[in-house]
Amino acid sequence: MSTAFKEAIKAGIPQSLPPKRTVGADVNRAPKRKDILRPGEKRLALENALRYFPKEWHAELAPEFLEELKIFGRIYMYRFKPNYQMKARDISEYPAQCTQAASIMLMIQNNLDPAVAQHPEELITYGGNGAVFQNWAQYLLTMKYLSEMTMKQTLHMYSGHPMGLFPSSEEAPRVVVTNGMMIPNYSQPDDWEKFNALGVTQYGQMTAGSYMYIGPQGIVHGTTITVLNAARMKSSGGPEGKLFVTAGLGGMSGAQPKAGNIAGVVSITAEINPKAAYKRHEQGWVDEITESTDEAIDMALEFQAAKRARSIAFLGNIVDLWERMVERNIHVDLGSDQTSLHNPWAGGYYPQGLTYEQANTMMAEQPEEFKSRIQSTLKNHVTAVNALVEKGMYFFDYGNAFLLESSRAGADIMDADGELFRYPSYVQDIMGPMCFDYGFGPFRWVCASGKSEDLDKTDAIAQEVLEGLMQNAPAEIRQQMDDNIRWIKGAKENKLVVGSQARILYADSEGRTEIARAFNKAIAAGEIGPVILGRDHHDVSGTDSPYRETSNIYDGSSFTADMAIQNVIGDSFRGATWVSIHNGGGVGWGEVINGGFGMLLDGSDDAERRLETMLLYDVNNGIARRSWARNKEAIFAIKREMERTPTLKVTVPELVDEDILSNLDF
Ligand SMILES: NC(=O)c1ccc[n+]([C@@H]2O[C@H](COP(=O)([O-])OP(=O)(O)OC[C@H]3O[C@@H](n4cnc5c(N)ncnc54)[C@H](O)[C@@H]3O)[C@@H](O)[C@H]2O)c1
Repeated sequence: MSTAFKEAIKAGIPQSLPPKRTVGADVNRAPKRKDILRPGEKRLALENALRYFPKEWHAELAPEFLEELKIFGRIYMYRFKPNYQMKARDISEYPAQCTQAASIMLMIQNNLDPAVAQHPEELITYGGNGAVFQNWAQYLLTMKYLSEMTMKQTLHMYSGHPMGLFPSSEEAPRVVVTNGMMIPNYSQPDDWEKFNALGVTQYGQMTAGSYMYIGPQGIVHGTTITVLNAARMKSSGGPEGKLFVTAGLGGMSGAQPKAGNIAGVVSITAEINPKAAYKRHEQGWVDEITESTDEAIDMALEFQAAKRARSIAFLGNIVDLWERMVERNIHVDLGSDQTSLHNPWAGGYYPQGLTYEQANTMMAEQPEEFKSRIQSTLKNHVTAVNALVEKGMYFFDYGNAFLLESSRAGADIMDADGELFRYPSYVQDIMGPMCFDYGFGPFRWVCASGKSEDLDKTDAIAQEVLEGLMQNAPAEIRQQMDDNIRWIKGAKENKLVVGSQARILYADSEGRTEIARAFNKAIAAGEIGPVILGRDHHDVSGTDSPYRETSNIYDGSSFTADMAIQNVIGDSFRGATWVSIHNGGGVGWGEVINGGFGMLLDGSDDAERRLETMLLYDVNNGIARRSWARNKEAIFAIKREMERTPTLKVTVPELVDEDILSNLDF
């Protein structure tokens, strides 16, 4: 079995044409994409797809690929999906010339594991369109290249397409990934539809196209921190008995009810897709499920009265739920939304008055009518939210482009001056000042042995390191450290591991480095196997996104992307095993540039040297930029880091006296 697996990987595109496959009805399939290509462009898409295969197969494959393009709007090359089980294996099982390449193969397979990926047949990991590859030929070729790669080569990935292995050096990253990089004027949503259908670009989301998605654990942790702090900051008393209302039980949004329970609130999450809602219910990620708005509300009121942290799924449209809450004059403490509004016209957001199936048909057959219904639903959405906010609800945008798309739809979402949104993004109020500006972000690791004992040992190591650092931590960051020590203590109990043996926790520059160093020592001592480090792109330094990660940058630079580009270049020569840079993560195509890295720790002195230099830069690049933007938490953090690291020298801003400016005539 294992030999057959190795041989299949090494073969790449198989020697003989595999039989045509049909995909089972039980698989969660990607929505049919818009039929956007003109006939001449369809021909081009076909030519592009066929260039992966020997000439002799073209006559058979051409009509099949054209059929895929016509039915699904894309050519996925279903026939070439390999027969072996798609999952992260023990790193020693990969046929590789170097362990660094094997670590990347492991992470690629994890991102395509049906237990992890949202639409595994279409190579989509999350977010409806977050792709690892555009088609199965790219997967097969990439794995083959990785199996051949030595420590003196680098594989260059163009939006899922492996351009090839190029000579480099041991110090270079083994893989450089770019996803969705466009000439800036060609970054409108329809440009993605067109160029993705042509097979020349893809939407890598944040972690899908960089092979760093670890299942819903990452988002559960981030959402727990957000909901907990929203409850702490924005309403009196603790989270107990507070009501949190939101939407989306999909790939990432499905974490909301679980995070609500961990944070200690009562939650209602609306979901229009029955498959997604029942999947989360069966998995135990949401406690109750109902198709009635009234029943959902009544249950919530009961749980609130009993101060029981419980989660309810409402199977229906979120706007119907909000409107019913207004009618019944319900007091909601915290409100948000996690429908996929980064992708509003292609299945990310559903209009009122249609079932899920009816809406999907309209989306493909009457896209203009669909668009207009989405816009009027968004207007109703905002009207209902505004009414509840007037009665004391705290509403925040949770990084899904809700504010942006509502404003584009003409909803009543702007403040009195018409310049700013009425509501903050969670980064402006919570995540930015409490976490990112101090360098806290979603650090993660994967135990490459695949053993749960290794994960337990790394949990214990991380806890010990954080408890040690806590002893001398300044008051400004004690709450963050305390929340993460509690998280790591309870992490195993929360049973969040899906796919690879992975863990996430928010740590700052010092925390990440010290944890990584301790792992490397434990690997050297033979206590654990190799460990792959990484992070979400949703972090301090990796992402420029004016409506999300950098929404709390107020010096005008939030529409620049220098930080993300500097970060990927800076990480690449400081020791990352692979680096990636993407256009269009969580908030939409053209709205964000985001990057990440992966790093293999193998217990060597080289790994220690690499982790020290790279992690320091990877966190402090963003703190320096946030400090330059005059964010006071970041000024504190960068000054502290410069004291700890004398070779770090960062320009710190001089703050102008308010009086000087207010006395001038602008
Ligand atoms: N803030 C963060 O840290 C963060 C992290 C991940 C994702 N996101 C963003 O959150 C959004 C959701 O991500 P996801 O991976 O869960 O996407 P997803 O597409 O898997 O899930 C969204 C869900 O919303 C449902 N939905 C759409 N319109 C609805 C409506 N009107 N009423 C009820 N349900 C509706 C869909 O059926 C779907 O199941 C994306 O825009 C993503 O970029 C934010």
